[in-house]
Amino acid sequence: MSKRRLFVTTALPYANGKFHIGHIMEYIQADIWVRFQRMQGNLVHFVCADDAHGAPIMIAAEKAGITPQEFVASIASGRKPYLEGFHINFDNWHTTDGEENHSLAKEIYLELKNKGLIEVREIEQFFDPAKGMFLPDRFIKGECPKCGAKDQYGDSCESCGAVYSPTEVKNPYSTLSGSTPVLKKSDHYFFKLSDPACVEFLQNWTQTPNPQGRLRLQPEVLNKIKEWFVQDESGKTGLGDWDISRDAPYFGIEIPEAPGKYFYVWLDAPIGYLASLKNYLDKEDIQKSVPGVLGFDRFMSDPQVEQYHFIGKDITYFHTLFWPAMLHFSGRKTPSSIFVHGFITVSGEKMSKSRGTGIDPLKYLSLGMNPEWLRYYLATKLSSKVEDLDFNPEDFTLRVNSDLVGKYINIASRAANFIHKQFNSQLGALFPNGESLVIELQSSSATISALYEEREFAKALRETMALADKVNEYVDQNKPWELAKKEGSQNELHAVCSTCLEAFRYLSIYLKPVLPELTTQVESFLQCAPLTFADAQTRLGAGHTISAYKHLIQRVDEKMLDALFDIQSDSSSKADHGKSLSNNSKPTTADTALPSNGDRKEAPGGEEIAATIGIDEFVKIDLRIAQIVTCERVEGSTKLLRLMLDAGEGKQRQVFSGIASVYAPEDLVGKLTVLVANLAPRKMKFGISEGMVLAASHADEKAVPGIYILHPWPGAKPGMRIH
Ligand code: MSP
Ligand code: ZN
Repeated sequence: MSKRRLFVTTALPYANGKFHIGHIMEYIQADIWVRFQRMQGNLVHFVCADDAHGAPIMIAAEKAGITPQEFVASIASGRKPYLEGFHINFDNWHTTDGEENHSLAKEIYLELKNKGLIEVREIEQFFDPAKGMFLPDRFIKGECPKCGAKDQYGDSCESCGAVYSPTEVKNPYSTLSGSTPVLKKSDHYFFKLSDPACVEFLQNWTQTPNPQGRLRLQPEVLNKIKEWFVQDESGKTGLGDWDISRDAPYFGIEIPEAPGKYFYVWLDAPIGYLASLKNYLDKEDIQKSVPGVLGFDRFMSDPQVEQYHFIGKDITYFHTLFWPAMLHFSGRKTPSSIFVHGFITVSGEKMSKSRGTGIDPLKYLSLGMNPEWLRYYLATKLSSKVEDLDFNPEDFTLRVNSDLVGKYINIASRAANFIHKQFNSQLGALFPNGESLVIELQSSSATISALYEEREFAKALRETMALADKVNEYVDQNKPWELAKKEGSQNELHAVCSTCLEAFRYLSIYLKPVLPELTTQVESFLQCAPLTFADAQTRLGAGHTISAYKHLIQRVDEKMLDALFDIQSDSSSKADHGKSLSNNSKPTTADTALPSNGDRKEAPGGEEIAATIGIDEFVKIDLRIAQIVTCERVEGSTKLLRLMLDAGEGKQRQVFSGIASVYAPEDLVGKLTVLVANLAPRKMKFGISEGMVLAASHADEKAVPGIYILHPWPGAKPGMRIH
């Protein structure tokens, strides 16, 4: 069988924020599949990029006082630690603001225009009179016109999945200024999806298998799509036209021959898949160093090349209708399949970017938690279905400790010692019972690889762990520790331990897509070349020498999970007022800051001034004036006060502060103070703390007692930002 050639992407993340655990989950899913394909000997180009354009990014940059280009570049510069940290192996990371994307987007647009599929129409669009600009869909909220769900965005409903235009939203308001938007006329460019040729193509494309004979779409996705094709009065099936232009000011790609008009971000975003691939394949050094690389144009015009996109369920519409139509009618290859996944929840709770819940991926890494634990755990829950998946801390600990360490690694650690000590690190011949076990492991290769191919990772791992159970049973039955003591059982001991290590190697092949780093260590322990699925047909064999066994993976320590979720008692309440801002800096207390020779003054307030930051870092901290509406002692804590704060948001926030020893609650009620308004909420013993109030104190509170909360000059009002 000749090798397959694949082009694989994940969705391009908006360049307006850091990665959250949902992004990491998507990348891990795709990365596992890509690694599997490579272990099959297939050629895979796996790329992604930042989705740089659109109004939200423009507005965020404006708020930060920098250009959108600078804003996007600063986000892009923070991607690496996540990707490397979780062993996500993209070949290329690009940006939709790159030159390739500008030219590809224009090219594709002009081809669609030549086909008569672009139409200009005057529309009435919402305009924010306070802000003086047309309102992007995302900055209009209101009730879904289809299902009536409240607080839905202006372009689609998170509750029922409907896609609509903002003017259809009921009771709309501008999220930029809060004002009621007014309608204003403007020329817009439309992609005529209602054209019978488009409708026919999409009906056909979505429902027929791809050239490899596989479904292009999962059955659940196909069902959803059927709802999106609507019938008019005459019973004809159709789709609505798609508005692809936005008026200046907009951060995006200018539409050719249309001054002041830009492509809507969702037009150029998927084209960014091609742009990133082009940026990669057209690099001279890549063409020289990677075998089989032919350059972008030749690669994409090869009919054998398969194209796959991993995406989350919220962006299905764009990928299963707009994107294939854009590609097809501009004369390009369409995706072989779109792989849609569900959302990750944490302990059953939907994560919310604005409330900052979920798991912070960098915090996970900085706590020394093994990235492959997460890869393994997620893989035990991933399937080909569009199902949500929950991260549950107890379940996580159990899966990693009992499967990965208890079942898999255990096999190697049980056998390796005997092989080293008694058999000069060499494997021996197998006995018949070992032989049959090894054959069973070998012959599971076809089933397991079929499961990986179908993205049934949970099933593939279940199969693999069932095999590991069998190997452990074999060890328990043959008791190498007894054989080691028994006279004349040397050959049997050698055979049992050799069987274990042969078996361990097959298990390692099956786990390698999920655990790339661990299995790299296994390869050096077993002294074998990088494992592929073809290796399931071979053996290490008698006489093969292995290296010394070093412990391969740690167990999950529950304390790490406590730290990850910030579960703490109030004994650490020092961190609950302003002091925690400086907790990251070195603990320069009065003692350490005062050198014995006395030629240096004490550091101000008992600690050195923290490292210099730029204004760009300072603006990330959103400090607001807040009024203390109520304030009470917290039962069970001598240190904490529970404050309810009004920061002008139309709702109150609960904040715990470790100031009970210095302030009586009644003295604080009604006062104004300073709130860190965008600090991620923290789960504490007594409830969630939704921010932090600022307070001053000496670094050594014992030597210089006192905590002083900040109080603004008269005239400041709740909600005002501190600059
Ligand atoms: N920029 C668009 C995609 C353009 S693709 C041409 C976008 N970006 S995003 O940053 O909001 O989302 C990126 C991916 O993360 C999407 O596939 C999205 O579904 C996925 N996820 C966002 N939240 C998620 C979870 N809670 N769980 C799993 N995936 C989630 O959409
Ligand atoms: Zn709805």
